[in-house]
Amino acid sequence: MNIDGIPTRTLRAHPERRVIDIIDQTRLPHALHWVRVSTLDEAAHAIRAMQVRGAPLIGVTAAYGLAIALATDASNVHLQAAAALLRSTRPTAVNLHWALARMESVLDPLPAEQRCAAAWLEAAAIAEEDVAQNAAIGQHGLSLFRQISHRHGPALNIMTHCNAGWLATVDWGTALSPVYAAHDAGLSVHVWVSETRPRNQGLLTAWELAQHGVPHTVIADNAAGILMREGKVDAVIVGADRIAANGDVANKVGTYLKALAGGDNGIPFYVAAPRSTLDFACPDGENIPIEERDGDEFRLVHGLDARGVPSALHQLPAKEAVTNPAFDVTPARLVTAIITERGVCPASSEGLLGLYPEAAHG
Ligand code: MRU
Repeated sequence: MNIDGIPTRTLRAHPERRVIDIIDQTRLPHALHWVRVSTLDEAAHAIRAMQVRGAPLIGVTAAYGLAIALATDASNVHLQAAAALLRSTRPTAVNLHWALARMESVLDPLPAEQRCAAAWLEAAAIAEEDVAQNAAIGQHGLSLFRQISHRHGPALNIMTHCNAGWLATVDWGTALSPVYAAHDAGLSVHVWVSETRPRNQGLLTAWELAQHGVPHTVIADNAAGILMREGKVDAVIVGADRIAANGDVANKVGTYLKALAGGDNGIPFYVAAPRSTLDFACPDGENIPIEERDGDEFRLVHGLDARGVPSALHQLPAKEAVTNPAFDVTPARLVTAIITERGVCPASSEGLLGLYPEAAHG
């Protein structure tokens, strides 16, 4: 994806120095600020504090975090402790657990002196796969968008929620990858960007769409229904943090409401995600752990003050009781189709196993 016209990835690895550079997403959309991560604790902090966020990017960052940890101590004890620390950072995005399990399966059998170099290579392989898989998702989604634009007229109005774009991955994004593919292929695409309270990931979506020159409009989350009722939405596309074996989808809180409103208005509701987001060991959405985040994310509103200085305002007194679930589950019956790097399938165990038959054998 382009930033200021230059193809850019969200994470830069420097294996020779055993460090990575990430974008501090807590400072976007007001400032593009790169941060160096050179210790295990910094990697864990970056994920927990949401300097990096989005399921695929969390997984890739955790893989590099493990590689960073092994530079100082590659013993079994430290490998297990580092993986456990990284695993504890965020519970819902299964990509985190998938990436760490993959790293451990490569590293466990190796003698300690070979582990660090192998870890950097494996983390790089995970990052490259993420880019390739998201590009493939873009092409499969583009085919769907072409069909919709043939039916509804040339201009495509796509609604999305949260940020499942470039910033949530190493490149291209999941839900936004078909949007970029459509835009780059010359389709007339416009995106309704849902603000996504309380963390406002929609503002990240608006920022990256603007960087790539994709027309878009930011809406309050509560405006999604009226736009659908007025026939201004041709399709909804979102990412996922975990897709259960039966096709139930966990994604940013508020996704379920968009799926309900889409269903009531006959609007297709697509979920785009790579293999690393599929959890065949999780039977259904009831079994997906939902992260509860600090209530201050909700009590405080962040932005720039009149002088353009980043600041926070209390919209609620500190003692006001709030609840802040970060994700919700959209039942498979409300999902029109799932788009993965292998193609498009119904949101069902048959559909998912049709694309990933090897998962039937555990
Ligand atoms: O809490 P976040 O910002 O990490 O949540 C991100 C989302 O819910 C995304 O939609 C999801 O991870 C898919 S990212 C390609």
